[in-house]
Amino acid sequence: MTNGISRYILGSLAGLAFATSAVASKADNELRETAKGLFGTVTAATAAEVSDPKAALGQALFWDIRLSSNGKVACASCHFQENWGSDSRPRSIDARGRKTLQSQTVFHSQDTPGLRWLADRASGAAQAIGSITGSMGFAKREDILPVLAEHGYTDLFKKAFPDEQAPMTPDNYGKALEAYQKTLRTPAPFDSWLDGDDKAMTELQKKGLKRFMETGCVGCHNGPLVGGTMMQRFGVVENYWPHTGSPDIDSGLMRNTGKEEDRFFFRVPMLRNIAKTEPYFHDGSVADLKRATEIMAKVQLGQTLDDEALNELVAFQESLTGKIPANFAPPAGIPFELPEGVEKK
Ligand code: HEC
Ligand code: HEC
Repeated sequence: MTNGISRYILGSLAGLAFATSAVASKADNELRETAKGLFGTVTAATAAEVSDPKAALGQALFWDIRLSSNGKVACASCHFQENWGSDSRPRSIDARGRKTLQSQTVFHSQDTPGLRWLADRASGAAQAIGSITGSMGFAKREDILPVLAEHGYTDLFKKAFPDEQAPMTPDNYGKALEAYQKTLRTPAPFDSWLDGDDKAMTELQKKGLKRFMETGCVGCHNGPLVGGTMMQRFGVVENYWPHTGSPDIDSGLMRNTGKEEDRFFFRVPMLRNIAKTEPYFHDGSVADLKRATEIMAKVQLGQTLDDEALNELVAFQESLTGKIPANFAPPAGIPFELPEGVEKK
């Protein structure tokens, strides 16, 4: 969080570039021009990005349940297809049997300037390396190396890092996982519409977009990921927990910094694929997107929204749902099983 601009701004919104279209209607064009200044489009990964040996290695590492201290937990155990790269459980369970915060989706996660609820990981590689001794349950980073060797990863590391003598290292484990997760991008109807296709969004979704901007959601959830760019207090106008029913009160960024002014500050989540990544909030306290939207309006903006407004806002958020990337699956020969109690869809 020391990137010079402001403590609370994680990234810059500059450099958003857009295409225009001649076929769009006038009403759509006006809305589109405003939206283009506040959001931005995303693109799918290219075939070359997906087949890159680093990304291919990262894909295997991501799905392989053998690569954890108990031999039962993969990255995908808490970031699975069924929930668009996130966890359907309010809290996940790590390889030590401990409960975590709500697992966010890994889709587009590598495009944010600071990762996790507190933006306390600067890159996808740093996040993945931290997982070795975190979620994956090893005592030291190096403890994963013999496990990788045992399961035949030596050659895959050599292929992915051909210029290195002994490439199987925790650092390269992180780099491969970052390269893989960078490919997990999901263009949605909203992108097609921003690019000029009037029919890509329904009328209700367009009303929702307008409402999202007018109500003030966009003040925090903006940029191409519709969030992910800043730290903000959860509960600007009112405390959040009477509304979310959270069993514990998390003091947020203050946990890391010890500063009173950081109390209840969290990274503004991106809303890409939000309709598919329930439950919501850092503690998974709210199961339903309409309810989460109602709470946001209340505690962040001091507004009580009626049913019509809420339905529009939910419809807009549904236009941010893309397709699950084809390489978001275990590669051939890699063992993966959903954790106990999670239903296969
Ligand atoms: C036991 C469950 C669990 C496992 C296993 C796990 N994660 Fe996570 N992941 C989480 C949770 C919980 C968070 C949010 C943590 C926080 O914010 O403090 C998270 C956050 C992330 C994020 C940040 C997303 C964002 O929007 O900023 C990425 C990326 C990620 N995990 C990738 C991985 C990778 C790669 C692995 C394997 C090396 C992995 N995870 C293993 C539970 C898990
Ligand atoms: C002042 C900044 C701010 C405003 C305004 C705001 N939000 Fe949020 N939003 C946040 C923060 C911070 C969180 C994370 C809360 C947490 O830690 O659980 C969040 C979380 C969310 C979530 C849950 C995301 C997830 O991954 O679980 C949704 C959905 C959401 N906001 C939608 C909206 C909508 C819709 C509006 C307008 C009605 C809105 N927000 C207004 C800052 C804001």
